[in-house]
Amino acid sequence: MKSESKKNKKMEKEIEKLIQNMTLDEKISMIHGVELFKSGGVERLGIPGVVSSDGPMGVRAQFMSDRWIASGNNDDSVSYLPSNSALASTWNPYRAYEMGHVLGTEARGRGKDVILAPGINIKRSPLCGRNFEYMSEDPKLTAALAVPFVKGVQENDVAACVKHFAANVQETDRLMVDEEIDERTLYELYLPAFKAAVQEGNAYSIMGAYNKINGVHCCENKNLLDVILRGEWGFDGTVISDWGGVHKTREAAQCSMDIEMSVFADFDDYKMANPLKEAIRRGEISEKTVDAKVRNILRMMFRLKMIGKDKAERKAGSYNTPDHREMALRTAEESMILLKNDKHTLPLNPSKIKKLVVIGQNAVKIHSDGGGSAEIKALYEICPLMGLKCYLGGNTEVKYLKGYHVPEKPKTFDHNWQADSLDDLKNTDIGMAVRDEANEQEMHRRDEEQRLAQIEKEKAEIHEKNKELFVQAVEAAKNADAVIFVGGLNHDIDSEGFDRSDMKLPYEQDQLIEALLDVRKDMIVTFVGGSPVEMPWRNKAAAILWSYYAGMETGNAFAKIIFGDINPSGKLAETFPKKYDDCATGQNGQFGAWGNIKLEEGLYCGYRHFDRRHIAPAFCFGHGLSYTEFVYSSLTLKAEKGKDVKLTFTVKNDGSRVGSEVVQVYIAPIAPKVDRPDKELKAFAKVELAPGKSRKVSLLLKQQDFAYFDEHLHEFIADAGDYEILVGASCEDIRLKGIATLS
Ligand code: BGC
Repeated sequence: MKSESKKNKKMEKEIEKLIQNMTLDEKISMIHGVELFKSGGVERLGIPGVVSSDGPMGVRAQFMSDRWIASGNNDDSVSYLPSNSALASTWNPYRAYEMGHVLGTEARGRGKDVILAPGINIKRSPLCGRNFEYMSEDPKLTAALAVPFVKGVQENDVAACVKHFAANVQETDRLMVDEEIDERTLYELYLPAFKAAVQEGNAYSIMGAYNKINGVHCCENKNLLDVILRGEWGFDGTVISDWGGVHKTREAAQCSMDIEMSVFADFDDYKMANPLKEAIRRGEISEKTVDAKVRNILRMMFRLKMIGKDKAERKAGSYNTPDHREMALRTAEESMILLKNDKHTLPLNPSKIKKLVVIGQNAVKIHSDGGGSAEIKALYEICPLMGLKCYLGGNTEVKYLKGYHVPEKPKTFDHNWQADSLDDLKNTDIGMAVRDEANEQEMHRRDEEQRLAQIEKEKAEIHEKNKELFVQAVEAAKNADAVIFVGGLNHDIDSEGFDRSDMKLPYEQDQLIEALLDVRKDMIVTFVGGSPVEMPWRNKAAAILWSYYAGMETGNAFAKIIFGDINPSGKLAETFPKKYDDCATGQNGQFGAWGNIKLEEGLYCGYRHFDRRHIAPAFCFGHGLSYTEFVYSSLTLKAEKGKDVKLTFTVKNDGSRVGSEVVQVYIAPIAPKVDRPDKELKAFAKVELAPGKSRKVSLLLKQQDFAYFDEHLHEFIADAGDYEILVGASCEDIRLKGIATLS
């Protein structure tokens, strides 16, 4: 500890020395982008620029320095890792650590200093376009996964850039939307995962979000960045703006925003470039504000061994290695969620199948190249059909049918989502754009109108083409030993830049599934997607398997689960409502608007809302079946030192297969002094058990786990009283109950 603080003191001294030696120009160059993914360095003093890259599912392909055009390298394919929503469904912090580790290794291997991940925003509404990049609707689960993820990344001498700070809950009007959030909701729901990433994960950097909170843009928000992040949490790393998230020079300069990045190529005109320099020259802003930013950046650079005497020891990284692919497979296997399995329909017995019919476009769809900034150039991607074929070998007939029509979205080499967002700017050529802030919101609104008009147009095309596709699919389904439907969403729908307009399956999939279930009651219904969908036919289906975008090994993991080599152990990290109107934003309508939204539901989103309103979802938070059965018994609660409570119980695998169970512990305050959610997740563990074996599980509930945020005292308070402790296999499937009393 002592030597650590000595080292830190030395580092701080060196930082001061470097700052003293810098000219204003040099300092300014360090605090803004000088390329699309690089901020400036000071060559004279041996300080390199900071090179960043997206993103959460793998290191993004290389772009030209000032254009959103892929540089066309052939050495920038990478491991395509499971999305954060898939990762969260494993409920396994070790998988999060491993994934962070692989991402960090690959980022270093590709020469990056900062990887723009993980995305840990709370999923407020199932319609948010970027939900696939985020983990959960629950802060405890998100925090528990974010911390090891960040540690895994950073042990490679790469900074995790935890994003998007904070409450980046919708894509509609994302640059300007103003979110009205009360303080308690912010502290209890939207901030805890960021706090954990900073304090427990020791994140070196954090990304300021695009949106406003209570009238102030996050990248210019003193309350968020100075009072909370630096003041209350003690963050001393680097705050990087989301690309184009800074709007005003003075405000950004005078709060803890350290590096301004943007999607525009007029680097010298960034707010924290020439405009800031001029304001300092005019004496309106003190040079000390710039020194503070440079200090935070240099501190991160020392920690990354980019500068200083440890430079030679900086890790070199590697990418596309076999062990990275194995990690992707393990996580994919653990992430898939068996939502329904009547009469042991799954797993299928491969020896009984001579002819398998696979229907649906997600059986063959490649997802790695879409979604916005999370897109990557994957080394390969095994889709479900390929996984099934590889598993079964050539002697089983596998017949594939599209089933439904998906309109083509042409992808060209010089075209990507961020370039698209510049398309409309007048008098500019793609990627060399200059910001036209006055018209930005209007341009985005126009884009959105065009997008929606295009969707309407496509509906007629889909309907027409589906007529024949449906007939073919139904006919084929009648003549097979087994039928697997693989549908769901894709990144034309789950995407950065816009939200979903409803929660329905696109391309008339509901009608097709109904028609198929009429002729094949035993059809296995499976999905790949990034956010919940309505499943109006779910009572008719015998087996439903859900996979989020699960990375390069999706298809192999999928086949192993379908045929029982892997026993599913994924659990939902978010509620799947029966219909959109049932969820909080469906009821209050405060989602997806332009201008302002009010987070009226407060703490009551996700399962907290469903509990409070007594609405039964289609599949609840924490739900996920196994091919085996788990039995819970013998709960004991014991007060530990202070106000902590230790709980112990036994879980037994009562079936005939090896399996893993995610045991979940919720706290339900009895007669609370203030309004509190009926129950909240406060602990969980994943337990692997051989058939017939049992294990004693011990978990600790800390005093903090009983607390709520008191807005008047501005602190977390755990009131004395009785709390029900609920132990279960999901938030609804509670198997054991006990009472803990806080004195
Ligand atoms: C996204 C960020 C991303 C950045 C750089 C922004 O549009 O919101 O998540 O890291 O672009 O590509």
